[in-house]
Amino acid sequence: MSREIRLASRPKGIPTADNFVLAQTELGPLQDQQVLVRNLFMSVDPYMRGRMNDRKSYVPPFELGKPLAGGAVGEVIESRAKEFKPGDVVTSNYGWREYFIASPKELHPVNRQTQPLSVYLGALGMTGMTAWVGLNLVEVKAGDVVFISGAAGAVGNVAGQLAKLRGCRVIGSAGSAEKVRFLRDECGFDVDFNYKAGPMLEQLNLAARDGIDVYFDNVGGETLEAALSALRVHGRIIACGGISGYNEEKPRPGPSNLFNMITKRLTMKGFIVFDWLDRRGQFEKEIGGYFRAGKLKNKETVVEGIDQAVGAFIGLFDGKNVGKMVVKLT
Ligand SMILES: NC(=O)c1ccc[n+]([C@@H]2O[C@H](COP(=O)([O-])OP(=O)(O)OC[C@H]3O[C@@H](n4cnc5c(N)ncnc54)[C@H](OP(=O)(O)O)[C@@H]3O)[C@@H](O)[C@H]2O)c1
Repeated sequence: MSREIRLASRPKGIPTADNFVLAQTELGPLQDQQVLVRNLFMSVDPYMRGRMNDRKSYVPPFELGKPLAGGAVGEVIESRAKEFKPGDVVTSNYGWREYFIASPKELHPVNRQTQPLSVYLGALGMTGMTAWVGLNLVEVKAGDVVFISGAAGAVGNVAGQLAKLRGCRVIGSAGSAEKVRFLRDECGFDVDFNYKAGPMLEQLNLAARDGIDVYFDNVGGETLEAALSALRVHGRIIACGGISGYNEEKPRPGPSNLFNMITKRLTMKGFIVFDWLDRRGQFEKEIGGYFRAGKLKNKETVVEGIDQAVGAFIGLFDGKNVGKMVVKLT
């Protein structure tokens, strides 16, 4: 017997608990070339909100009445495939459930000595890789002034720490005084501000009196508009996410000052981290090296129990997490 969370109805606006149902399911006997895994941690991520809409995107929508999917770290319980043995630790896309059966090619082995194992959902997982890909995309280099929104979140805090390791001046915006302190005291950001405490553009201009070279956009909306104003000539924008609009039923009009792209000769590059999986080895070597050397912190907010996973997911849209939001399943 295993428990899993299914999509009961498609959310309108901010998701509510009624959109989900916790159900029991029975797993069939293991066949040849199959592996039984017990999940230890699962991830909740903002991009999952897009998959709850019935709309064409870069990944298919979640199906009503079926379990959700997403990143997870688990332990092999039984294996009928030579690639894995009981006790191995693996990542997969079989989150939102306690146990699952998969083929070896759907599992990625990780080192169980690396602790906490939830780091494979955060700094050494999809969100850490997103930060790394974003910085590489526009060749962030020493001396750049880099502004990061959603800075205390999973992608943002790693992007800031990596930019500091590259010798940049790093500015972050986040939604509470506690998050601002975390960025300054634990992540080494140079300047941070609480975007809820005053007008966005005023605060950004104060933080970056001479402008910014790079904007790492996790948020979109008003923050992107402020960044377009603050960017210097030949500035670069990393278009990573736009969480401020994920629960809007109708898309909001774009930035009123987009003409800055032309007058300042700006570059804006978007990306989807899943397109970069062939570079995972390089990412794991580089970022794993920083993590093991103590140069990169893996900050996380841990919620316990599959029955708390929906609340953890909804909490992302209310800023409940500092660092990566993960759900512990044992
Ligand atoms: N392109 C890719 O391949 C890729 C991959 C992964 C993630 N992403 C994107 O990267 C962004 C960050 O993802 P993450 O996993 O690191 O999530 P996260 O930042 O850990 O969690 C979401 C955070 O967003 C902030 N937020 C929520 N509503 C907001 C609003 N209306 N305006 C401003 N901030 C708001 C909250 O922090 P505050 O307290 O600061 O408001 C919240 O903690 C998301 O947009 C996500 O979709 C893109």
